[in-house]
This record gives sequence, structure tokens and C-alpha cells, in this order.
Amino acid sequence: MKKIAIIGAGGNARELADMLRALPEFQLLGFLTNMHGKYDSPVLGDFSWPSAHEVDAFAMGIGDPISKFRVGQELAMRYPHVEWPVIVHPSAHVGSTVKLARGVVICIRAIATTDVEIGEFSQLNYGCTVGHEATVGAACLINPGANISGGVELGRSVMVGTGSQILQYVRVGDEARIGAGAVVTKDVPPATTVVGVPAASQLAKVR
Ligand SMILES: CC(C)(COP(=O)(O)OP(=O)(O)OC[C@H]1O[C@@H](n2cnc3c(N)ncnc32)[C@H](O)[C@@H]1OP(=O)(O)O)[C@@H](O)C(=O)NCCC(=O)NCCS
Repeated sequence: MKKIAIIGAGGNARELADMLRALPEFQLLGFLTNMHGKYDSPVLGDFSWPSAHEVDAFAMGIGDPISKFRVGQELAMRYPHVEWPVIVHPSAHVGSTVKLARGVVICIRAIATTDVEIGEFSQLNYGCTVGHEATVGAACLINPGANISGGVELGRSVMVGTGSQILQYVRVGDEARIGAGAVVTKDVPPATTVVGVPAASQLAKVR
């Protein structure tokens, strides 16, 4: 059994903890964080804790895509001997040609169909779908029930809101945010937030 510590201690990390407890290959140690949030669980310690304790693996439990990219990179450099296993819930469907990078988390009933690529530290949350040949960059968060159509390209640290739809072959730039319930019909530039239906028409509403 691998001794695994979750990075982060908020709601997303607690959901991941529940998933890990159900997987027999892992022994869950607890949560590690340097950034205490209002809704955090008690933690084992900060990111120096693994230097004094036995840890075989990390799981990325930070939800915010920009933070998780930074922290993932930092910890991978600091602890090169600690692995970042791919974590797939047994109820998820991951097609035989899907490529998953280190630290990817695929939650309950998420689906990645054919020739999909998911970058390091990215998470497919509950019940989302990612279609044929779509690419998801590093440290993205695809929230529950979102549907990413075939051929979509998501950059690094993209947040895809709950229940949103991204239509086929749309490209979304690094650090963009797709609002909950949005229908994205056109390319989204980097570091842009889009909301509504169709999403591109409401760019001015948020940052
Ligand atoms: C789009 C989003 C990222 C914007 O967050 P934000 O920058 O903090 O924006 P605000 O909450 O300040 O809202 C700014 C405006 O956009 C509107 N807005 C926010 N989210 C919206 C959405 N999803 N759809 C339509 N309008 C939205 C707000 O009503 C507000 O409008 P107003 O100025 O007329 O009052 C966020 O609201 C969102 O949808 N996040 C996804 C959440 C999610 O999926 N969570 C899953 C957890 S498991």
C-alpha cells in the first residue's frame, strides 16, 4: 500500500480523501497545505512535512487551477522521489486510448472517451464528459456535469464551471474561466472569464 498525502485541505481535498479511502492501493495519511482557508480540514502540516515523514505519493486536492499548477510544480521539484499517481475512481470511464499525465484525478462517473489527453494535475470532477481527441492542459479543473465536446483544446489552468458545455473544436486559452452553465461556442482567449449562453457574448460581464 502506498502512503499518500493530499495536497490541499478544502472541500475538493475532502472529496478526494473519500475517493482514496475506497481505493485499496493507498493508505491515506492526511492533508498538507501552506495556504489555510476558511473551510479547511485539520492538516498533518505544511509542505515541509514530507521531509521528516515517510510519504510515497501525493494527490492534488487543490481546486483552484492557478494555485494547483504552481504548487504541483513546486512539490514535484522539491520531492522528486514522491510519485503523483493517476487516480481513477472505479465508476469512471477512461477509454483505452486516453492519455493521463501524472497527478490526474478522475472522479466518480466522469467520462473521457477516445484519444483524449489530460495534462498533469488536472481533475475531471463528478459526472463530467470529455469527448474524442479533446486535450486538457495541465492543472485544469473540469467541474461536475460539464461537457467538453470532441476536439476541444483547453490550455493550462483552465476552470470549467459546473454544467457548462464547450462545443466541438473550440480552443480555450491558459487560465481562462468558463462560468457555471455557460455554453461556449467560440474560442476563449487566455485569462478571460466567459459566462452565459452563448458564452462569448457576455465577456464584458466579468473580469
Ligand atoms: C464565472 C465565475 C468564475 C465568475 O466568478 P467571479 O469573477 O467571482 O464573478 P462574480 O461572482 O463577481 O460575478 C460577476 C457577474 O457575473 C455574473 N455571473 C457570475 N457567474 C455567472 C454564471 N456562471 N453565469 C452567468 N452569470 C454569472 C454575476 O451574477 C455578476 O453579475 P452582476 O455584475 O450583474 O451582478 C463564477 O461565477 C463561476 O461560474 N464559477 C464556477 C463555479 C463552479 O463551477 N463551481 C463548482 C464547484 S464543485
